[in-house]
Amino acid sequence: MNAYLNGDYLPLADAKVSVLDRGFIFGDGVYELVPVYSHKPFRLDEHLRRLQGSLDGIRLANPHDAAGWRERILKLIDLQDVADQSLYIQVTRGVAPRDHAFPQTVSPTVFMFAQPLVTATPAQKAAGVCAVTAIDNRWLRCNIKAISLLANILLRQQAVDADCAETLMLRDGFLTEGAASNIFVVKDGVLLAPPPSNLMLTGITYDVVRELAVANGMPHAVRAISESELRAADELWMTSSTKEIMPIVRLDGAQVGAGVPGPLAQQMDALYQAFKQAVMRA
Ligand code: PDD
Repeated sequence: MNAYLNGDYLPLADAKVSVLDRGFIFGDGVYELVPVYSHKPFRLDEHLRRLQGSLDGIRLANPHDAAGWRERILKLIDLQDVADQSLYIQVTRGVAPRDHAFPQTVSPTVFMFAQPLVTATPAQKAAGVCAVTAIDNRWLRCNIKAISLLANILLRQQAVDADCAETLMLRDGFLTEGAASNIFVVKDGVLLAPPPSNLMLTGITYDVVRELAVANGMPHAVRAISESELRAADELWMTSSTKEIMPIVRLDGAQVGAGVPGPLAQQMDALYQAFKQAVMRA
């Protein structure tokens, strides 16, 4: 497995950074995770735009323009044997003596690696997963894809401890997102999505799902979703680059809708798979 570190392509095991890297010391950095199908990155422009937004959010100059990123990313992808990959990109504020203030002159650390992409099997999608809820106790800048994920990790572990797949977060009585996914609700045939804001990360998958809903005439609305609406949902889905569209069939031990993946989830999954195929062929 090959990695990229500050201009070099090297085996992952040989990629080393200083313990004074601000990513290690402070979690002072941002990341992206790009799914790769048949050696082609999915929605790379969108991922690079979100990366730019995250870098702007932490006031870190982008070390590369879009063409520079594209060149490096495609080279790294081509170096991997496996065709379907999960490409991780991380940019930190670099190596400097420990001090909260930004270092004066320092170059960011750019690290990337790709591992085999593990997506849900048809059997897993047909079974669905369970989820739990928790109070969203993260900071107020969740739209930044920051590497400092301690709150998300603690929240996700609550799901793992309950033998579930995801923790759905509620802030002031409204759904924000999952610990590492976006959440969609279906009620009375209408697909509902929480509106993008500083309280959630707008997923690339979230955007694709919304585009597909519009393009295929699936009734849908983007608006705040209350806890009671969440609990009364006919269908719940979690979406992310690796989980794609995964139905949630139990929430806090209670059945969601009929307790099995619903018709809209199945329809959206089919649309998503077809879209992926079409984009990757183009
Ligand atoms: N996480 N919200 C959060 C908090 C996330 O961590 C993620 C994805 C998403 C969905 O974004 P996308 O559709 O672009 O994958 C929403 C990735 C998969 C991760 O951290 O591994």
